[in-house]
Amino acid sequence: MDAVKIKEGIYWVGAIDWNIRNFHGYQTGRGTTYGAYLILDDQITLIDTVKPGFEEEMLSRIAQIIDPSRIDMIVSNHVEMDHSGGLPALRRLCPEASVYTSGAAGVKGLSAHYGEGPYLPATNGSSICIGRRTLVFMATPMLHWPDNMAVYCPEEKILFSNDAFGQHLATSERFDDETDVSVVMEEAKKYYANILMCYGKQARKIWETVKELDIELIAPSHGVVWRGHIRRILDAYDAWSGKEPDGGALVVYDSMWRSTEKMAKVIVDAFGAKGLSARMYDLKSNHPSNILPDLLDCRYLAVGSPTLNSQMMPGVAGFLCYLKGLSPGNRKAFAFGSYGWGGQSVGLIEKELKDCGFELALEGIRMQYVPSEEQLKQLHETVGNLAVDVKHS
Ligand code: FEO
Repeated sequence: MDAVKIKEGIYWVGAIDWNIRNFHGYQTGRGTTYGAYLILDDQITLIDTVKPGFEEEMLSRIAQIIDPSRIDMIVSNHVEMDHSGGLPALRRLCPEASVYTSGAAGVKGLSAHYGEGPYLPATNGSSICIGRRTLVFMATPMLHWPDNMAVYCPEEKILFSNDAFGQHLATSERFDDETDVSVVMEEAKKYYANILMCYGKQARKIWETVKELDIELIAPSHGVVWRGHIRRILDAYDAWSGKEPDGGALVVYDSMWRSTEKMAKVIVDAFGAKGLSARMYDLKSNHPSNILPDLLDCRYLAVGSPTLNSQMMPGVAGFLCYLKGLSPGNRKAFAFGSYGWGGQSVGLIEKELKDCGFELALEGIRMQYVPSEEQLKQLHETVGNLAVDVKHS
C-alpha cells in the first residue's frame, strides 16, 4: 500500500501488521496498524513512528513523498516501542532532526530505550509553529503510559491522538468511513476495554477536552483515521469512561463436571428474566481479552469456579488476574461454584473481586457435587432479587 494522503500535505506513512495475533496477551484477531503521519511544511514533521521490524515499511512510504533525510522534526507522542521503535532508523537518516516528547517522562523513557537524545520536552498546552501550521501538545498521561501525549493541529482540525481512540485493526482502508464501521467500533471498544479501562479518569479527561475542539480528523496510532464517525467514537468514549453501567450482566466461569456450568446457566436466565442483557462465557473456550468488551456494558458480573485442589480453576485465576490489572470497579459482583469437599474456590474468587474494586452484591454461592433442582430454583430466585427489573421499570 502507498502512503495515504489524509489532508493536503499530510500523509499516513505507518505500517500494517496483518498477522499479529497476540499483543501482550491481548488477542488481536484482526491484526493491527502502527500509525505514523508525515506533515509537509517549512519544518517537515513526522508524528510517531512504528514498531521495531516495520521501519523499512515506514521509510519506504515516507520515501514516496520526500527523502526521509529531509525530516526536520519528529514528535514522539508515546515511548512504547510500537510507536517509537522506528526512531533509531529514522535518526540515522536525519540525525539533525529535533525530537519532541512529552515532558520529563518522555525524555526519561526515550533515553532509557534509545540512549541519550537530545530530546526536547513538550509541556502540556505548549505549541510550536512548523510553518503554515501549529502543533499544540496535549499531555494525556497514562493513556496508556506516563509519557503519552496527543498533538492537535488547529489549522487542519486534526488530532493525532496516539493510543487514544485506537483500534487493533489491520485494513487496506485508512478511514473509518471506507470500511465496515461496526467492525471499527467493535475493535475500538475492545481496545478501550483491554488497554484503557484502568485509566478511565484520564480517558474521560481527553474526551472532555476533545469534544470541545473543532475536529475534522482523529488520527490515532492504531487502526483507521476517524473522519465520518467522530461523533460516534466520542459518544462511545463518553459511555465507556462514565459511571456505573445501567444494565447488563456478565457470567464468566470454568467447570469440571458441569455443575458450575449449570449454576452459570441459571444465573444468566435469572438476569435475562429481569430484562437484562446477559452473556455467559466459559473460560475454556473464551480468551479474557475477548470477554472484557462486554464488561463495559455490564452492571453485574458473576464469576464461577469449582474447587480444584483447594484453589479455583487456573483459567478463572488468570481471568481475575487480568481483570484486576484493568481496575474495572463501579459494578456489582458475586462468586459461585460447585465443590466436592473443601469448597475454597468461591471465597478465593470473592477476595479477587473485592480487590478488583467491585461491590460484592451477594454472598458467595456454593453447591456441593451436583446442584439439585431445588437449589437451582433457589439460585434463580436469589439472582432475580438482586437484578434491577428492567422489564417492569
Ligand atoms: Fe500503542 Fe501504548 O502503545
